[in-house]
Amino acid sequence: MASLRIGPAAAIEGRYRPPSDKSLTHRALMFGAIAAGVSRVRNPLGSEDAGATRRCLEAMGLRVEAVEDGWLLHPSEWHTPEGVLDCGNSGTTMRLLSGLIASRPLTATLAGDASLSRRPMGRIAEPLRLMGARVEGDRPPITIHGGGLRGIRYATPVASAQIKSCILLAGLRAEGTTTVEEETLTRDHTERMLAACGVSLDRHRDGERHVVSVHGGQTVQPFDFAVPADISSAAFFMVAAALLPAARLTLEDVGVNPARTGILDVLDQAGVKWFAEAHRDQMGEPVADLTIHDGGDLRPFEIGGGLVPRLIDEIPVLAVLATQCDGVSVIRDAQELRVKESDRIERVAEGLRAMGARVETREDGMEIEGPVQLRGATIQTDGDHRIGMAFAVAGLIAQGETVVEGSEAIQTSFPTFAEDLWKLTYA
Ligand code: S3P
Repeated sequence: MASLRIGPAAAIEGRYRPPSDKSLTHRALMFGAIAAGVSRVRNPLGSEDAGATRRCLEAMGLRVEAVEDGWLLHPSEWHTPEGVLDCGNSGTTMRLLSGLIASRPLTATLAGDASLSRRPMGRIAEPLRLMGARVEGDRPPITIHGGGLRGIRYATPVASAQIKSCILLAGLRAEGTTTVEEETLTRDHTERMLAACGVSLDRHRDGERHVVSVHGGQTVQPFDFAVPADISSAAFFMVAAALLPAARLTLEDVGVNPARTGILDVLDQAGVKWFAEAHRDQMGEPVADLTIHDGGDLRPFEIGGGLVPRLIDEIPVLAVLATQCDGVSVIRDAQELRVKESDRIERVAEGLRAMGARVETREDGMEIEGPVQLRGATIQTDGDHRIGMAFAVAGLIAQGETVVEGSEAIQTSFPTFAEDLWKLTYA
């Protein structure tokens, strides 16, 4: 097991482009595998999660040609894979691919690592069964016998872009119309990217609900997509900049889809100064450069309701921020954290307490009272990349040394995390 040792830092500064977006890299690979021609993906994420999606798609017929700045994706008719599809640590791989497989006349078994094997798949199996697929298993491994789907109208029981995307991708080849209703809007990368590929979708509000429909039988046009940087990876550096006494950090080329920018709302609540500039667009995805200044006196914040899906992956590192805010910060409506790569409510609370923080957990979140001087401790990632990185950031402001054990998990989304953090911070 690898470990990462972190000592206190005084400053973080510079210009930095975080690694490319994980959600968008998964989707670019999958959409390239179903497009009606060759697509180009520039600066894709080169992490273990993205590798899992790539290998699964290759096992069913995609050819990925490496070119100077990324990939050319050569699709072909999908075929039944020879072995089990190994989705590694990646829930996105398993859930989105399931929708694509279920809508094709093939059979595949999808499995994952120990963490993914604990995660719920009934949430995608149920709608796929309603559409007519045969799905065995509600936890990995799952086996899907696909083909002959019909459209459904489905209200997602939990706020999850992975469930929504699975159903929409299945709907692309279902008979009739497939509609997904959400109480809270989750990240809409699938919708935006499909629209940019010429797929016609209907999106509207029905009272409080967000509704999206797709007609089956549409063609996905090939595309040329430069993947922006991942705001969920940038988040670790944003919080480091908010916490360190001397900070001015510009994060370049970051995807700022409003369904992903909840962290910026939290920085506002906490009183951290930031600004965005150089706004641009990549296949319907807004992109900007973000500059963060040191936070100064930090105010406590509240996360709940519709904000939760907009920052779901950032909560571990925002919990670290909360330890330095003057008062009680509250995180609620975030029970989904219990079924991420680890139980993130327990792992965050346990690690922060070991560092001296005051944390109360609830079923759907936690309360954190600050400010406290954190002290170095040994933290286990439990195979969860974001737990590893959040506690590395905590280590920057702790007294003494912090050891993150199981740091190989960070490869899932951010292979260069430790060296990049090292380059940008000063003791
Ligand atoms: C993702 C959606 C989120 C997020 C995950 C990636 C996606 O999961 O936590 O890291 O790419 O659609 P849920 O939609 O299940 O909450």
